[in-house]
Amino acid sequence: MTRRVYIETYGCQMNVADSELMLGVLGREGYVVTDDPAAADLMLVNTCAVRDNAEQRVIGRMGELKRYKRPGVVLGVVGCMAQRLGRRLLDEAPHVDLVIGPDGYRALPELVSNARDGARAADTAFKSWEHYEDVPAVRTDRVGAFVTVQRGCDYRCTFCIVPMTRGRERSRRLGDVITEVGTLAEQGVTEVTLLGQTVNSYHDGEHDFADLLRSVGAVSGVRRVRFTSPYPTEFTDRVVAAMADVPAVCEHVHLPVQSGSSRVLKRMGRRYSREDYLAVVDRLRAAVPNLGLTTDIIVGFPGESEADFGATESLVREVGFDDAYTFKYSPREGTGALRLPEAVPDAVAGGRLERLIATVRDVARRRNAALVGTTHEVLVEKPARRGDLLQSRTRTNKVVLVPGPTSWIGSYLQVRLTGTTGSTFTGMLEVSGKELAVVG
Ligand code: SAH
Ligand code: F3S
Repeated sequence: MTRRVYIETYGCQMNVADSELMLGVLGREGYVVTDDPAAADLMLVNTCAVRDNAEQRVIGRMGELKRYKRPGVVLGVVGCMAQRLGRRLLDEAPHVDLVIGPDGYRALPELVSNARDGARAADTAFKSWEHYEDVPAVRTDRVGAFVTVQRGCDYRCTFCIVPMTRGRERSRRLGDVITEVGTLAEQGVTEVTLLGQTVNSYHDGEHDFADLLRSVGAVSGVRRVRFTSPYPTEFTDRVVAAMADVPAVCEHVHLPVQSGSSRVLKRMGRRYSREDYLAVVDRLRAAVPNLGLTTDIIVGFPGESEADFGATESLVREVGFDDAYTFKYSPREGTGALRLPEAVPDAVAGGRLERLIATVRDVARRRNAALVGTTHEVLVEKPARRGDLLQSRTRTNKVVLVPGPTSWIGSYLQVRLTGTTGSTFTGMLEVSGKELAVVG
């Protein structure tokens, strides 16, 4: 009898990759994927714990999934929120059968089978050796692939729950990563995104992140290498040189800054000042011309004054980010920042968030408007949400919508940017200097 698994994924790209691993673990036991919860024998919700609103969304969603629970159907909560709450989730949510943290997915088949017999369970043990090395990830994207190269985090940013939900930092062996990337390339994948919480601190005991970039970039068939997220202080000269030297490494860095105020950065436990961050940006831009730069920013961190917030706004303008993910500080249980005085009132933080979003948009719009008329290589990823267009991406990570047939998905094209909404672009295929509108 075929069993069906339905999985919903929240949060970061590593969760997407972890969901693919879970499908691999279950696939070996004969499970097939369904996108219909009503048809599922097993429902999994892969969760994020980074901010309270991410958790609230999941709680709401679990209430909805309860409707699909027939006898014998198992509902599991997995991922960072599962790790954070553990047994508490079982106690508080009677419709949840399983709670499994990021290191426990290998035991899924057994735990699911027990749960079917009525044994609810929480498995939140950390396994510092776990890389799911032998598990064949079930990926649906044929164009690009997320490859986790490092799990856990040894930094202790005072706002962040991740070290508590993902455990100690450890890197996969370079040889294992290369084997996996080689297999992906043979299957036709040409873009690889290397994942880790502080991915540029990758070290397998023998090889550092520079070695990894060079080796992945040398795999035959790999045309684009991306990575996320690096930590500002881990860009050694070796890493920067590898980025500049390896043709496949894309001209884009997502470099979380969190704040533009050195005082706030210190309270956040970040290991750099505003000046240090700006110096890293200068080094990266000097080594990699036309680098796309994006970031993460938190507003309303305890003690953030109006002047500190002003420093963040001025940093956004000074760096000229191409985009930024902006968040209102969310206090997380067990993190260092809970002990900090001078909480910022919610209304003040909300106001700052709105102003920051406007600043980020303004900076991005100017940068993007200046690119209209230029030509870029794009990789066509998928049909765009808007009807007859395709979504493609430049090496600098700009999204370009192009008219064309779905048979172009997976191919590389030269397109001329013809317009921008301020954040995304429209483009036209360019053939020897002329534009071609191809009808699909
Ligand atoms: N090392 C990871 C960080 C994971 S969390 C990475 O660099 O991708 C992703 C982002 O969420 C962080 O960069 C931070 O901007 C934001 N974040 C983390 N904890 C938060 C909190 N308590 N409140 C608000 N935003 C937070
Ligand atoms: Fe979180 Fe800082 Fe690590 S943001 S994931 S503790 S680098």
